[in-house]
Amino acid sequence: MQRPLTKHLGRSHTAVELQLAMSLAVGALLLACQVDTKFVDVPHSVCASGEIWAFQDKDNPRMNPGRSCVQCHTEENDPAQAPIYVFAGTVMRAEHEGDDCRGVPSMNVIVTGADGTEFSMPSNSAGNFWLPPETEVLMPYTARIVDDAGNARVQQNPVDNGDCNSCHTEAGANGATGRLIPPVAP
Ligand code: HEC
Ligand code: HEC
Repeated sequence: MQRPLTKHLGRSHTAVELQLAMSLAVGALLLACQVDTKFVDVPHSVCASGEIWAFQDKDNPRMNPGRSCVQCHTEENDPAQAPIYVFAGTVMRAEHEGDDCRGVPSMNVIVTGADGTEFSMPSNSAGNFWLPPETEVLMPYTARIVDDAGNARVQQNPVDNGDCNSCHTEAGANGATGRLIPPVAP
């Protein structure tokens, strides 16, 4: 009786190992996907960037490009999970780009407080940027977007709301003409 049992156990052990290896492989695959497939491809007529955020879950710094970060985080009222940012937004590909379209990485977004102090925010791979909630910027502030070559796009008139995407919407609101977009090279 001993031998068949051992043999049986041995076989199921192998099966378990195989299953484990497979689920690990699937897990690794899912993990790899999570790294960058929260965006899916769409026609350029939908998003100039050709990619849209399609991941319903939150907790991701590339979430919801173009939407009003500060407003939603404030409404969530869960500072541990959704920090209550005062300054946040997205640099997008085109002036009338829709919500959730992937934005432009590696832009330097600089805000200048009323006392002249400057704070810079790098845009991430979704175009999103934000300041740590505890940063104190004296209102009203001006802002500019600077690219690697030093070209800048400048907001001349001071405003006192750090929720960039609340004015820089698809159509533009409160006097803004549309999205925050990169500067043009001369
Ligand atoms: C519709 C609501 C909503 C919008 C719009 C939104 N967020 Fe969030 N965000 C959340 C929630 C909810 C969480 C927390 C998720 C969780 O519970 O894990 C979160 C989490 C985050 C985190 C992770 C914070 C951490 O410390 O783990 C970052 C970073 C973030 N958001 C940035 C942004 C930026 C930048 C924007 C604007 C482009 C934005 N969010 C727009 C709801 C929103
Ligand atoms: C209350 C509305 C409002 C908010 C919030 C806002 N802006 Fe603006 N923004 C405007 C208006 C209006 C203009 C056009 C007039 C001007 O340039 O001053 C503008 C223009 C700009 C321009 C120049 C655009 C161009 O094509 O020349 C940049 C860059 C800019 N804003 C950056 C930002 C950034 C970064 C934030 C967030 C930190 C922000 N803005 C928040 C209203 C706003």
